[in-house]
Amino acid sequence: MRKRVLVTHQLPGDHIHNLTQHSEVNVWMGPGLLSAQGLREELAGCAGLVCLLTDRIDKALIDAMPDLAFVSSMSVGVDHVDVAALTERGIPLGHTPGVLVDATADTAFALMLSAARRLGEADRFIRQGNWTKENAWSPDFFNGVDVSGATLGLVGLGATGQAVARRAAGFGMRVLAYNRTPREVPEVEMVSLEELLQLSDFVSIHLALTDETRNLINAERIAMMKPGVVLVNTARGGIVDETALGEALSTGQVYAAGIDVFEQEPVPADNPLLGHSNVMLAPHVGSSTTRTRAKMADLAADNALAALQGQRMLHCVNPEVYDWQSSQPA
Ligand code: GLV
Repeated sequence: MRKRVLVTHQLPGDHIHNLTQHSEVNVWMGPGLLSAQGLREELAGCAGLVCLLTDRIDKALIDAMPDLAFVSSMSVGVDHVDVAALTERGIPLGHTPGVLVDATADTAFALMLSAARRLGEADRFIRQGNWTKENAWSPDFFNGVDVSGATLGLVGLGATGQAVARRAAGFGMRVLAYNRTPREVPEVEMVSLEELLQLSDFVSIHLALTDETRNLINAERIAMMKPGVVLVNTARGGIVDETALGEALSTGQVYAAGIDVFEQEPVPADNPLLGHSNVMLAPHVGSSTTRTRAKMADLAADNALAALQGQRMLHCVNPEVYDWQSSQPA
């Protein structure tokens, strides 16, 4: 019998066609995203799941799917998946590292520049008809803060953090970084998290969301930052305490912020950051270029195809499951 695979969203390219060569594929065509209940119903009896970061793959769902043999997420981050629950069942989880590094670093830099130079406010100012002769160019008109020559602190120096560091070099910035495991990267000074917070004019987050990083940037750590710092987050909501950040934006402890990721997405109307004009907001679009999304779809489909053909996924989050599988009696 052909294996059944659920794909929770249409993918760019001809991947669905390729998957149908090896399985019976059901693609969720909307409208909108699959609800938790919809996911549970559509996944029943499937051997494989190709999902997005918007799909919550929790233990209850995994436990309810005795036939599930692989999951491939079209994302690098996997905080939407209970990896331990999959590993316990020997189920490999694929993801898409590497290909979204540059697009995400570009987004971090764009948010940093936009927040520092108040470009969101400036755009709204013109559109709302406020740029008048009475309210025109003056020596302090829309003054922001300098990016060039400033000190940038990277919280997390993985591939994306390093790509941001390369961009910062072009802006003549001093780059500090904190990483749990120190790394040697040209022109980057490794420091403790406390030193980074105390010395940086700009702080940009490049960590995965885990139990250790949840709320890492809380009220206490925001208070340690240089007054007037600019904070950028393109990693995951949940790493920055949004209420604490909102308060720090009100007092001026944080001058401005560029935020692409939120504790709850889509963002509810009462999110504490929405009321601040000095926050440049983006709806989790760090990797959203057509080319990058196509590459992510390629990797997600390759991982699924490998699993369907009994091979190891090329990019597996929990490769230890393969040892587990080979230790099981045939
Ligand atoms: C984007 O946030 C991703 O994890 O791919």
